[in-house]
This record gives sequence, C-alpha cells and structure tokens, in this order.
Amino acid sequence: VKEDIDLVAEIARLKKEKNAVILAHYYQIAEIQDIADYIGDSLGLSQQAAKTDADMIVFAGVRFMAETAKILSPQKKVVLPDMNAGCSLEESAPADEFAAFKAQHPDHIVISYVNCSAALKTLTDVVCTSSNAVKIVESFPKEQKIIFAPDKNLGGYINRVTGRNMVLWDGACMVHETFSGKMIQDLKVKHPDAKVVAHPESEQPVLKLADYIGSTTGLLKHVINSPDKEFIVATESGILHQMRKAAPDKKFIVAPTSRNGHACKACSDCPHMKLNTMEKLYLCLRDETPEITLPMDVIEAARKPIERMLELSA
Ligand code: 13P
Ligand code: SF4
Repeated sequence: VKEDIDLVAEIARLKKEKNAVILAHYYQIAEIQDIADYIGDSLGLSQQAAKTDADMIVFAGVRFMAETAKILSPQKKVVLPDMNAGCSLEESAPADEFAAFKAQHPDHIVISYVNCSAALKTLTDVVCTSSNAVKIVESFPKEQKIIFAPDKNLGGYINRVTGRNMVLWDGACMVHETFSGKMIQDLKVKHPDAKVVAHPESEQPVLKLADYIGSTTGLLKHVINSPDKEFIVATESGILHQMRKAAPDKKFIVAPTSRNGHACKACSDCPHMKLNTMEKLYLCLRDETPEITLPMDVIEAARKPIERMLELSA
C-alpha cells in the first residue's frame, strides 16, 4: 500500500463501488470502529449480517464471527482482514474431541457459545451469545440436561444465575481469564467510587466483584445510563473507545490483568481482534480476499442452531 494513500477515503469509495458493508466488533482498534457501518456485540453483528442487503460483508472481527455471517448469508461474499484472527475459546474445543464428549452424554442437549468453530456448531442444538445466554438456557425446562461449550466461565455464570447444573466444556478466553480479582480489589481502594463492570467470560472472583455483568453492548449501555461516573471495566480494552465517546464526562479504567503472577499490561488486548489493521481492512475490501468459504453441508447444519438462537432472542 502506497504511503500517501488516504485509507479512510479509499475504504469509503470502495465500499460504495462494491455495495459492501463494514461490520465491526467493539474490540477492534478505534480507527476501524470509526469507519464501520455497524459496531456491535456478537448478537447484534449476527442480526445485522442476517438482514443486510449489501453484496459484500467486510467483517472486522474474528473468524468465528465472519463464519457466522457467512452461515446466515451464504449468497454474500464475506471477507475478513486477517484469516489468522481466531479465538482461544474456539481453539479450546476441537470438534472431534467434542463429538466424543457429547457421545458420553447421550441424554443431553448442546448449547454452544457462538465463540466456536462452524464444525462445533453442527454438533449443537442452540447457539447463544453472552447477551442472550441466560434467556436461551431458561427457554428449556429445569430438568433438561444440557452440555454447555466451550466457555466454562460463561457456563458457570449461567449455572449460578439460573440454578442449573449444566455440564461444562473446559474452555476459557485467554483475555478475560487474565483479569485479576485481587488487583481489581486493590484498585477499588484507590478509586472508592468506581463501579466494576465485567463480561461473563471473566472468572468467578472477578464476577463476584462486579456491579454489573453483561455482553459488550450490555456493558456499554450500562455505563451510559448509570448515574455513576467512574468504572473499572473487565473486558477487552477496545470497548473503552465507545464508552469514552458516548460518555466523555465519565472515567473508564481497564481492569488490571496478570499472567503467571505478574502484572501484564497488554493482556487486556485480544491478540486475535488486534490482528486487524486499517491497511488490511482496505486490502481485503479492494482484493476481496481473504474470503470466508465453508462447505454447503456445514453451512446448512450450522445454520439451524444459529437461527434457533435468533428466533429465541427476537
Ligand atoms: P460479546 O458478544 O459480548 O461482544 O463478546 C464477544 C467476545 O468475543 C467476548 O470476548
Ligand atoms: Fe476470543 Fe477472548 Fe478474543 Fe473474544 S476476547 S475473540 S473470546 S480470545
């Protein structure tokens, strides 16, 4: 890419020319969020992907999100700025291992968090996101036996909120598991008026300290509408861009993270989400690659549990 190119203007021009739409997750860098047509959480992004009349979807997020868009709109071209943008939750649940686990629990249904591979979705009865997980689980009778995969932290949270005992797959988010309950407690001493808001992918000691728990959209709405002025935010740092834009008079602090007992400043940045850059976004829009492709049988089998989720969360 030539150095003097105006990426913002070129992206706008190509988007018009190709009837493309840019969908971005809140964890993207600020510049990408600022040029997106829609910014949202996983549920909002999949709803947009299902209803857009664009010919091409440029998905500024990670691979499982772009795959969900492709599954919902298979006739559209879906491109992702960097095909290596995966997710540690997806990696933690290889479909063949999960199929064997499922076979050991023949009387259970499977509810999967959308952060998983398309192959795992084909083994799933209903998909959920962090914003509708409780509602989806509660749409089944209390006696229903359920396997929840792949996030044990979100699953544990739902078990506690609903009083259920779902069988949990042992997966976790590499970003959210670094938020430290102990360090958040210490920070609260220095900021006694600060409220803690947390994503349910965080571990229980962090969730215990939270004044509000929700999806990225839920966290954003909460901090905007709350009368409180100061927040410690336990989720990926990208969300702070929208928080600061929407509530410039409030103070937002990224919750402290630690790895192997040591403070880790960069740990609140998702290494997958942050692979996307303005330059890669421009190139994928221009060259229409890398493109998400999935076998038709996978698309059809994975679409059923996603559509079931969209119906249940309408
Ligand atoms: P949300 O659906 O809350 O945006 O979460 C997506 C995600 O990847 C969290 O790590
Ligand atoms: Fe996956 Fe965690 Fe990154 Fe979200 S923040 S995409 S769950 S690794």
